[in-house]
Amino acid sequence: MRILVLGANGQLGSDLVRHWRAQGEDVVSATRRDARIEDYRAVSDLVARLRPALVVNTTAWTNLPGCEEDPASAFAVNALGALHAARAAATANAHLIQISTDYVFDGTKPSPYVEGDARRALNVYGASKLAGEDLAAQGCPRSTIVRLSAIYGAAGASGKGGNFVETMCRLAASGASPNVIADQVTSPTNTLDVAPALLDIIRSGTEGVVHLVAAGSCSWHEFASAIFELSGVSQRPQPVTAETYGGPVRRPAFSALGSTRVAALPHWRDGLDRYVNARRQSAGVSA
Ligand SMILES: NC(=O)c1ccc[n+]([C@@H]2O[C@H](COP(=O)([O-])OP(=O)(O)OC[C@H]3O[C@@H](n4cnc5c(N)ncnc54)[C@H](OP(=O)(O)O)[C@@H]3O)[C@@H](O)[C@H]2O)c1
Repeated sequence: MRILVLGANGQLGSDLVRHWRAQGEDVVSATRRDARIEDYRAVSDLVARLRPALVVNTTAWTNLPGCEEDPASAFAVNALGALHAARAAATANAHLIQISTDYVFDGTKPSPYVEGDARRALNVYGASKLAGEDLAAQGCPRSTIVRLSAIYGAAGASGKGGNFVETMCRLAASGASPNVIADQVTSPTNTLDVAPALLDIIRSGTEGVVHLVAAGSCSWHEFASAIFELSGVSQRPQPVTAETYGGPVRRPAFSALGSTRVAALPHWRDGLDRYVNARRQSAGVSA
């Protein structure tokens, strides 16, 4: 089965391409150089030319402050882009996987959000991804919406210039004790754990909405503290409230995800251990 990955140089897309190829899949990668996702003609020409059986749309503008400042661009990439991928897939009689986010939820539920829970986004990024979910499902009769949360992968989030783990590793090494938000809870997930599980979902032909996240949940402060601990430094980040931290973007206080459809991925702490160890090894530092 030929799989086309859109956004193939992103932190998720690059790990999907690498892992799926290693599993023997026929994976074609595409970046914005091949087609800007907001350009329907370019996307549909690309899909028509490559004739994949499956299109995986990992593209997104993930810079949350940027999305607040420029909602038109956020919706062009995250909402219209999803429609473009979906229509192009439908025209080629392909299945679509649209990657989405925990930020489609408002964070008021006291337990992990499952697939059928009502969505209400608090920020422009979340609203644009929510619209993207609906447009993807509307545009392609065979579609799967896969929601992830707080992902980190070796490529770093290109939209944000790095990822949270990389930022915390750098701060730990510099001797800093940064303020980190302690009253927002999520399920940090290693993209290397997403790749095999998403391949299982593909092979099973699952459609509809699926939550694919690490087991367990933690606050950003707990997550940062674990990164500092694994970095072998003695200082720790300082816990602050979201209100004290400030910033232009409202985020859900609790956006941990659970699933009624698939098993949870390895625990967030396990995924983080492996990420930090791999990072250390690639830097040539012995564990
Ligand atoms: N990061 C998270 O914590 C998180 C959490 C939940 C869900 N998600 C979702 O997971 C998916 C992957 O996120 P990620 O963290 O891997 O993000 P990423 O590293 O920023 O990757 C996004 C990809 O989209 C591409 N892209 C952006 N705008 C484009 C455009 N106009 N046309 C074509 N390609 C474009 C980027 O290309 P360039 O490299 O050229 O910019 C990049 O390859 C997204 O759908 C995101 O919404 C992310």
